[in-house]
Amino acid sequence: MNRTIKQWTLSKRPEAVPTEDCFALVEHDLPELKDNQVRIKTHFFSVDPGMRSRLNGDSYAAALPLGNVIESAGIGEIVESTSSRYAVGDMVMGGLGWTQGLVQGDRGLQKLDPALFDDEVRMTAAIGILGVPGLTAWFGLQDLGRPESGETIVISSAAGPVGATTGQLAKSMGLNVVGIAGGEEKCRYVTQLGFDKVIDYKAETDLVQAIKKACPDGVDIYFDNVGGDMLDAAIVNMRIRGRIVVSGQISEYNRPTPVGIRHTTQFITHRLSMAGLVVYDYANRFTDAQAAMAKLIRAGSLVYSEDISQGIEGAPQAFIGLFNGNNHGRRLIQIS
Ligand SMILES: NC(=O)c1ccc[n+]([C@@H]2O[C@H](COP(=O)([O-])OP(=O)(O)OC[C@H]3O[C@@H](n4cnc5c(N)ncnc54)[C@H](OP(=O)(O)O)[C@@H]3O)[C@@H](O)[C@H]2O)c1
Repeated sequence: MNRTIKQWTLSKRPEAVPTEDCFALVEHDLPELKDNQVRIKTHFFSVDPGMRSRLNGDSYAAALPLGNVIESAGIGEIVESTSSRYAVGDMVMGGLGWTQGLVQGDRGLQKLDPALFDDEVRMTAAIGILGVPGLTAWFGLQDLGRPESGETIVISSAAGPVGATTGQLAKSMGLNVVGIAGGEEKCRYVTQLGFDKVIDYKAETDLVQAIKKACPDGVDIYFDNVGGDMLDAAIVNMRIRGRIVVSGQISEYNRPTPVGIRHTTQFITHRLSMAGLVVYDYANRFTDAQAAMAKLIRAGSLVYSEDISQGIEGAPQAFIGLFNGNNHGRRLIQIS
């Protein structure tokens, strides 16, 4: 591997939907290794909606400084090592960022055993359904949604990695599952996953009525990946003691002023509760959740979709595309 690598850095803070000039592709010479360090060649990295907040600092983590490499989950190969923990050829997962390679200390990485992966559970699942998106679905649904068989759940951005996983898990727990997604193709995909009903929000003029029609007896759990008007439309359809899980607010990330919630009286009349999650709060339970989900995948009751683009050059476009819905599943960039 060449010691000169390319990486994307933050060149300008976005004011609305990010534009390509917010990112700069720079060449960087990797340093010689010091003790207990590794050189990693990136194979895959992710582009995530949640990164949008970090670009401005409106997040639970600090704003990414200008000039820093854009952060993301990645899978890479150890190509040089002065660490007793890692040998050349080991595959690892960690916060590699939008880069072709890096030198770092030997902490904060997780070794991936190739023997644990195959055509069903691919190694890329480690940064997808068995990584942040899948774990968000798992803990958001179970810990905050507190689902009970027979209840009705509505999930927004249902065709995305978080939404699609949430819906399948909810179905396996005996819930009546309704997805909201944009466009016919995504709605078809959501139906194929086994959701009971799907609402194409791009084809609806009245979301309140569309949810009411899909859920005539009301909604027990709203798993929110979108926020804004969609959240408001769900709130007025909630049943008594309904739970709202705030996973993501993608319709709000690019707005200078949030839309906010208008129907707050409904929280009193219907004894609603609403809770947000940061998936990393559940880190000490990740291993069990990953093992359980890998088992479901192998049993054929949980499927996942990946949307993989080739080459580091397209990373900003792939990221920006998340905000106009052009991803079909977990969006990853393949470097080699
Ligand atoms: N809380 C946590 O710890 C945590 C961790 C990971 C992710 N998240 C959040 O979970 C949510 C889902 O993440 P994901 O990785 O599965 O990505 P995702 O759902 O694939 O996100 C992209 C999708 O969002 C939808 N979208 C974009 N702009 C929209 C808008 N204005 N209105 C309605 N829908 C819009 C589009 O789908 P359509 O084509 O259907 O519109 C797009 O394809 C995100 O909000 C993310 O920030 C939270």
